[in-house]
Amino acid sequence: MRIGVLCSGGDSPGMNAAIRGAVLRGVDVHGFEMVGFMDGWRGFHEGDRIPLDRAAVRGLSPLGGVMLGTSRVPPFARGSDPVEGLRAVRDRAAEYGLDGLLLIGGNGTQTVTSLLNEGGVPTIGLPKTIDNDLGGTDYTFGFDTAVSIASEAIDRLRTTGESHRRCMVLEVMGRDAGWIALHAGMAAGAQVSLIPEFPESIEQIGEWVLSVRDRGRSSLVVVAEGFRLAGVDRAVTREGLDGFGRPRLGGVAEVLAPLIEQRTGIETRATVLGHVQRGGSPTAFDRVLATRTGIAAADAVLAGQWGTMAGLRGDRIEMVPLEEAVGRLKTVPPERYEEARLNFG
Ligand code: F6P
Repeated sequence: MRIGVLCSGGDSPGMNAAIRGAVLRGVDVHGFEMVGFMDGWRGFHEGDRIPLDRAAVRGLSPLGGVMLGTSRVPPFARGSDPVEGLRAVRDRAAEYGLDGLLLIGGNGTQTVTSLLNEGGVPTIGLPKTIDNDLGGTDYTFGFDTAVSIASEAIDRLRTTGESHRRCMVLEVMGRDAGWIALHAGMAAGAQVSLIPEFPESIEQIGEWVLSVRDRGRSSLVVVAEGFRLAGVDRAVTREGLDGFGRPRLGGVAEVLAPLIEQRTGIETRATVLGHVQRGGSPTAFDRVLATRTGIAAADAVLAGQWGTMAGLRGDRIEMVPLEEAVGRLKTVPPERYEEARLNFG
């Protein structure tokens, strides 16, 4: 069997470990031939590929980023006829002699994984995103690493904030779901965690910050990039579009900080964590989750479980039908937000 591996979307710590897990199981145990495409769909369409064997994946587990590269290049040219686009992918897969494709990606990629499988290109999905917002799996690898980095950033901002009696605002990623802000805020004891799922008013945020000051402390506010102020019907966006044609998010901390300062009279500073939270070595948890995901995907190839995704369910990796995962954004439920709110103010 000849299996292709391709990464799409933003990178996520653990992608290297996932590739390594799939190759060790797929090549060494099941006897597959495996080939990796460089920079996602660009490499696939241009024939830019490398053989994946034990030597190619040696020592990969602790490494951040992804050795194959990844991109937001779509599988079908934008604006092209989807039927034609699908035929082009099928033709290429046949040209490379592929029996199937392993696709490592988040929400957008898993939708494509499903489309391709239905269109006659056998596929299996490996879920990854630091945002942890993918349905069909309890956690995605990369999330734990991002939360660790964000928690450490909060710890550090707290000491400088307390010294100057300032309110510190930290912006983390999370376009549609606030998992990183929620978990990092809870881990590091932020006094306010603002997430896209639950808009709050500037009046309420100001009250929390003032009540922290009344207790003689300084506030740490963590905000997800997709947060919206109550009464304002869109997230704060940077100019321009991302690789999927959506408005670029970000900049919410810089908008929020002066509003908080105006409202409370407390000097306030903004920090945008940005891509630091996606970089560097994955945590042990992410390395293990990613490795197990890769192993499960290789086993699923052998079992012919095409059209599935290797999801974490409790402590087990299960092959979840793609229909159960795609189009189901996993957002923070009210009870989780209520737990975090215990520390607010
Ligand atoms: O991977 C998802 C994500 O982390 C989002 O939270 C964020 O909006 C986006 O990536 C940023 O991606 P880019 O690397 O294209 O700027």
